[in-house]
Amino acid sequence: MAAENSFAEAGADLELIGIQKRFPGFTAIENLDLTIPAGSFFALLGPSGCGKTTTLRLVAGLEDPSAGRILIGGQDVTALKPHKRPVNTVFQSYALFPHMTILENVAFGLRRRKISNPLQKADEVLRLVELDQVADRKPAQLSGGQQQRVALARAVVNRPALLLLDEPLGALDLKLRRQMQFELKQIQQEVGLTFLHVTHDQEEAMTMADTVAVMNKGRIEQMGAPEELYELPKTVFVANFLGQSNLFTVDVDGGNDQTLHTVLPGGKISVPRARSERTQGTMTVGVRPEKLRLHTSAPADEAGVNTLGPGTITDVSFIGVSTQYTVELPALGSVEVFAQNVEAGPAARLGDQVWLSWHVEHTFGLADDHLETGSLTTEFSTQAIATQATLSE
Ligand SMILES: Nc1ncnc2c1ncn2[C@@H]1O[C@H](COP(=O)(O)OP(=O)(O)O)[C@@H](O)[C@H]1O
Ligand SMILES: [Mg+2]
Repeated sequence: MAAENSFAEAGADLELIGIQKRFPGFTAIENLDLTIPAGSFFALLGPSGCGKTTTLRLVAGLEDPSAGRILIGGQDVTALKPHKRPVNTVFQSYALFPHMTILENVAFGLRRRKISNPLQKADEVLRLVELDQVADRKPAQLSGGQQQRVALARAVVNRPALLLLDEPLGALDLKLRRQMQFELKQIQQEVGLTFLHVTHDQEEAMTMADTVAVMNKGRIEQMGAPEELYELPKTVFVANFLGQSNLFTVDVDGGNDQTLHTVLPGGKISVPRARSERTQGTMTVGVRPEKLRLHTSAPADEAGVNTLGPGTITDVSFIGVSTQYTVELPALGSVEVFAQNVEAGPAARLGDQVWLSWHVEHTFGLADDHLETGSLTTEFSTQAIATQATLSE
């Protein structure tokens, strides 16, 4: 009786242990170890083809691993058939039954499993996704976003210990997508199930998930809370895939207990040891564009501050909330700077000579000793509304 209107039947832990998946002539998953705690919202983030869908299919039992084990709630399900696993999947294509009402669509799985009061339970979940008022309609009479919510309701009504979401918002336009991200997160918090969400959209992963695992070529490159991954990326791939980074490949010239430094033409870059994956030889250091400050004259040396310059502003893009500058440094190439628009008018203009500074504690040192070339270009998340304003004068 108590469980009658509660969807908070707790989710379960998911554990992947030494998972490998080889297709003929191609290894899609290298060696995956992953623990997703019960009740968490976990995002698997990576570019197309990195193995996200394959991972979900393995968990759902639609593929067999070439090696390794899968545990759900501590129980080994590796040999279990898909319908025996406490798992439901929501795909990008909603695949609703067109001839059934919304209510019947949601109740369908319950009826098939001979669960009591299917319509009542379906109605309750429809209330949760705020679609109870359209329960009598057919899928074709709903918008794309509403259909997506029905697909979600249809999965949640089964109270799976684990809900798998494979780019479920991919077919929606940007505005609806943002709204659904928010709703999906709220629903997850209400039902308390474990969500494993797969996406190639970094903003989606960061806004929704408690924990994000960044996947590249069948391997997890780095895993952590969104802020942690953003502030302290450990590889070139992560630094570029999650947001934007200015990266410099340098040689370590010295250091002390706390920091390492490299001397460059036009400046010196220090990085805290605690924020560096390497401590000697050639390494790649980076800093996020919004951490940089522009100066129109050489800034005085200051402890704990990195400075570079002079360089020349070669591009100014007005984005609305911020202005993006490209600064060309003779020895280091181009550097991106994002400046908040707190002053009226541009702080610096195209062709200006400028210096750059940032706090040492914002620098990160990556595991790579070189920049991957031609691998990836990331978009600014706000690019859709960006207008290019090249200042002349
Ligand atoms: N059945 C299959 N046979 C051979 N290769 C496959 C098969 N399924 C997926 N792959 C390959 O495995 C890689 C990962 O695919 P997938 O998991 O679908 O990536 P993602 O979902 O991250 O875009 C891709 O290179 C894909 O071509
Ligand atoms: Mg996929």
